[in-house]
Amino acid sequence: MRTREPAGFRVAYTRIQSTTMSHETLPTDEPAVVTCGLPYANGDLHIGHLRTYVGGDVYARALGQIGQETAFVSGSDMHGTPVAVNAEQEGVDPEEFALEWHQQYAETFPKFNVEFDNYGQTHDETNTELTREIVESLIEEGYVYEQEVMVAYDPIDDQYLPDRYVEGVCPYCGEHARGDECDEGCQRHLEPGEIDDPVSTISGNPAEYHSRQHNFFEVSELTEYLSGFLDRLEGSSNAQNQPREWIETGLQDWCITRDMDWGIDYPGDSSEDDDLVLYVWVDAPIEYVASTKQHSEQVGSDVFDWGQAWQDDGEIIHVIGRDIIQHHTIFWPAMLKVADYVEPRAVMASGFVTLGGKGFSTSRNRAVWADEYLDEGFHPDPLRYYLATNGGFQVDVDFSWDRFRERINNELVGIVGNFLYRSLLFAYRNFDGTPDTTVSEEVNSRIDEAVDEFTAGVNNYSVRDIGEASVSLAGFGNEYIQRNEPWNLVDSDPDAAAQVIRDCVQIAKALAVLFEPIAPAKAEQMWDQLAESGSVHELTVDDALVAPPGEFSEPEELFEKIPEERVEQLNDKLDARVADATDGGNGEPSDSEDESDTTPDPDEHPDANLESLADGRVGFDEFQKLDLRVGRIESAEGVDGADDLARLTVDIGVETRQIVAGIKQLHDLDEVQGQKVAVVANLEKAELFGVESNGMVLAAGEQADLLTTHDDAKPGEKIR
Ligand code: MSP
Ligand code: ZN
Repeated sequence: MRTREPAGFRVAYTRIQSTTMSHETLPTDEPAVVTCGLPYANGDLHIGHLRTYVGGDVYARALGQIGQETAFVSGSDMHGTPVAVNAEQEGVDPEEFALEWHQQYAETFPKFNVEFDNYGQTHDETNTELTREIVESLIEEGYVYEQEVMVAYDPIDDQYLPDRYVEGVCPYCGEHARGDECDEGCQRHLEPGEIDDPVSTISGNPAEYHSRQHNFFEVSELTEYLSGFLDRLEGSSNAQNQPREWIETGLQDWCITRDMDWGIDYPGDSSEDDDLVLYVWVDAPIEYVASTKQHSEQVGSDVFDWGQAWQDDGEIIHVIGRDIIQHHTIFWPAMLKVADYVEPRAVMASGFVTLGGKGFSTSRNRAVWADEYLDEGFHPDPLRYYLATNGGFQVDVDFSWDRFRERINNELVGIVGNFLYRSLLFAYRNFDGTPDTTVSEEVNSRIDEAVDEFTAGVNNYSVRDIGEASVSLAGFGNEYIQRNEPWNLVDSDPDAAAQVIRDCVQIAKALAVLFEPIAPAKAEQMWDQLAESGSVHELTVDDALVAPPGEFSEPEELFEKIPEERVEQLNDKLDARVADATDGGNGEPSDSEDESDTTPDPDEHPDANLESLADGRVGFDEFQKLDLRVGRIESAEGVDGADDLARLTVDIGVETRQIVAGIKQLHDLDEVQGQKVAVVANLEKAELFGVESNGMVLAAGEQADLLTTHDDAKPGEKIR
């Protein structure tokens, strides 16, 4: 069976552009810390995870290059039920289990040139101590109170069943539900005690509900602070806007303890004599601080002072995926505030990487694995380029080998590689390297412009713009050499030819400097090619205009084209895997709703959507924000490389829109032409398989039954 696409394509409902500035422009005189969301130490990394780590690495490198003192840190998330349940299912001790994965991650990141200044883990002493300290201050400041909650309990195994330890029936929709989320049905967040017919995930024993005392962090008390914090917060706009909505509907206090052994012990007094550990989301972000502290201890606090960064006036920048915005913009700043730490300056929340429009699933093997990518013989830098410079940081990216090939062949090989090779080869053959003259005014200012774009990219938190600065400079280089035809000048006007080539070599050097964050290993190669000394990793953007040394050797081509046959093989492999996963690999139901769109895999993100789905109703005002219109489909054709997508042109009265919809398999594309449809006209734009989608066509059910009107409503008419 083939995977089915959702009818209308949903994308993250956010504005694309980044937020307005409220802080001093970067670089500042303060130390900066760039962090990446910690991976749960519970399974292989896939290229979806890499979007966080590549994004963070690109950003941290770029920040360093514009002259900001920067520490780049992360670590493994060792605790919580995501780790404990997997360990228990394999019959191993959670510590041993998590440490093994931690080791693996620590080895995998450098293979993608993701170079943390420190990569720690949440179970070590530094984090354990710091977590105790911070929680103790939450208690001392009077922000923690006890309250009874209902907790599932396995009477046969005498075990409490927090979060993912319990499964049962959703009280709202009757579907099978896991942990704290109705992941196969209505997607609601379920409070402890809500699941009907609870059973233990581990033993399968029926569970009972017991009332237990737990500890709550009074986040609601901090509503006003958080509201002001969000006004100041920079980064991607989704990280500012989503929490605003949660604040408007009222913040709930946060249960910070769990009935488990695996985790960091709750340091306060508890009226229950049983051991309680802290909820994983308490100690996980504290690792950002702990990891920075370890970095300081390694390099000396005169080189990097973690205390100054976190307790005085640092620039804290978190890079994460969009599924964990709430934790980073509500809970975490609330903790930092009460414990008297510096508040984050920016949160950069990327869109998800999906497959065929659906979430990755580790347990179902529906993923492109990080190791697999390397095992296929690919260099890490092209994947970095692909992940960092897609349609926009907040937009979900549907991974396809075709699209990957297209971008590598057209952009990396066709623009960047092509410019470098042709100009440096010409320089080598005719001048043994860099001609002995100075850079022209035109090229000097074009490089300046690229440096400005790069710096603006950093200030706009756009890893894409950081990459674009180089690609467009290389594009200029190609145009420049083409326009000046040095090959026609070498004999007739050697000085003029020397000038053109001197300019091109400078552009090549600027590319090595500016492309370093995106493609660190390739930049190193460019650097060596120019016979430069030292490391390209220690430069600043100012080096882009410093004259290169004289002689260099014959250049080699930097990037390799991916042949079409290669993509066909890769597609076959991936298609088979996706079909397997969808046909109920691992005994999972095949048509579960959780896979019908791009929501994060709840399997991996039990804590996502903590409140966002708890109250499904919207006010009339909210509804009014949607611009729903009658449209008429003018044309429909399949999107190349996408099995399920169609590119529609839809007349919506005032204009004709291009909209991508997942209807290719389900409708005869000739027949839909002329049909009237309901269109969401003010949905932000998205890019699917490289095709821009400007709006959404509404449809119902598995067969994408297109919504229409039944009388004479005209295209453009508003639907209310
Ligand atoms: N352990 C938590 C984060 C704690 S941060 C204090 C977690 N772990 S995770 O392993 O599930 O995810 C690690 C990172 O990868 C997160 O930033 C997450 O958003 C990101 N992604 C995981 N799957 C992803 C995709 N399919 N696409 C894009 N990003 C993804 O969450
Ligand atoms: Zn449900």
